[in-house]
Amino acid sequence: MLFDVVGGQAFFDKVVEVFYDAVEHDPVLLPLYPEGSDTIGARHRLTLFLSQYWGGPTTYSDERGHPRLRMRHAPYVIGERERDRWLLHMVAAIEAATVSLPDEVRDAVRADFVAYVTNAAEHLRNQ
Ligand code: HEM
Repeated sequence: MLFDVVGGQAFFDKVVEVFYDAVEHDPVLLPLYPEGSDTIGARHRLTLFLSQYWGGPTTYSDERGHPRLRMRHAPYVIGERERDRWLLHMVAAIEAATVSLPDEVRDAVRADFVAYVTNAAEHLRNQ
């Protein structure tokens, strides 16, 4: 299970930390976020979602119910531009978080994680 391969929760904390540090300075994405540069809640939700998706604890669903990500993203205009900027920051965050993984797992984790977010981001595009 990827959650265990990457060493557990700290890996997902790192991905989301690097990702949201970039979003907080992104003039295209930041206006979409209802709480603006106060990203504490958004960081918490994304961290729990990603760790649950990859086989970690089900805290996300305990707190938020079924993810229903398309519905939850419906209020935000997500076109190719928003999708691409979101992915740019997420792929950079995945690269950063995987640097410290053992050589024998790094490339596979990167490939699986990047493939997943690339598909998911396209699925959430609504424009
Ligand atoms: C395609 C570009 C995307 C944009 C512009 C975008 C934007 C947003 C915004 C504005 C929010 C509200 C922030 C908040 O939680 O308060 C949000 C929430 C969230 N996003 Fe995205 N998102 C994108 C893609 C994705 C993808 C690909 C995933 C999953 C792989 C994802 C997972 C989530 C989750 C889990 C939440 C919190 C949902 C909740 O429990 O309320 N997002 N997103």
